[in-house]
Amino acid sequence: MSIIKPDIVLFVGDISDGSVKIIKKINLLNIPTFVMLGNHDRGKDSSGETLLKQIRVLGEKYCAWDLKIFNNQLNILSARPCSSGGGYYLSNEVKAVYGPISEEESVNKILKSSEKNIQDLPLIFMSHSGPSGLGSDPNSICGKDWKEPSCDWGDRDLAISISEIQKTRKIDLVIFGHMHNRLKRNQGFRKMSKIDKKGTFYLNSAIVPRYKTNTKGELFVNFSWVEFAENKLKHISHRWYSELGEIFEEEILF
Ligand SMILES: [Fe+2]
Repeated sequence: MSIIKPDIVLFVGDISDGSVKIIKKINLLNIPTFVMLGNHDRGKDSSGETLLKQIRVLGEKYCAWDLKIFNNQLNILSARPCSSGGGYYLSNEVKAVYGPISEEESVNKILKSSEKNIQDLPLIFMSHSGPSGLGSDPNSICGKDWKEPSCDWGDRDLAISISEIQKTRKIDLVIFGHMHNRLKRNQGFRKMSKIDKKGTFYLNSAIVPRYKTNTKGELFVNFSWVEFAENKLKHISHRWYSELGEIFEEEILF
């Protein structure tokens, strides 16, 4: 039996529609946790209070425009919070908390944070939406599938930051959610991973819904699973786990 025992857990957003209750449950996890919030998490509260409450509850776990070094083993760089793709769009909720950050300022904030990274350690870049530049088909990893014409729906500030950082070091993994695996209008399923020319692996973890049951009514939960060994990426998969922590299905991506 394979029990779920990760060293760290990353949340890449759309955890709720702004419920602090769920965020408080994340705080109860007895595993080091890093949380990027998504566009849904900000709620519909242009005062920014809903978003601020979650940021306060998460404390050190909260990730946005910063770099955290985990246990001298891993650089965890975070992009703009609550992003929703489509190039660059800053919602009123994010503006209320952070001010009217421009695309260029967002890039600068990410790059400034990245300067503190430890070169010898792997770098994970986490974001809510993925970057632009990875394809413009409906089934591209960040492609617009819900309306014609399809187009590249990634975050531009994230893409610019990635290419700037790649000039100075390797980015091992870019992980995000937001772009659901099941496409709208019966177009099938999305490509959920990609590797670029610099060897950066892009992992879309938005398997939606994250729960399913089999014919016997047993419940399964989906997690994206990543393993590093000797400072190198060794394994990436999407896994369905039973409630007992057994792997029920696994799609190996790397
Ligand atoms: Fe989202």
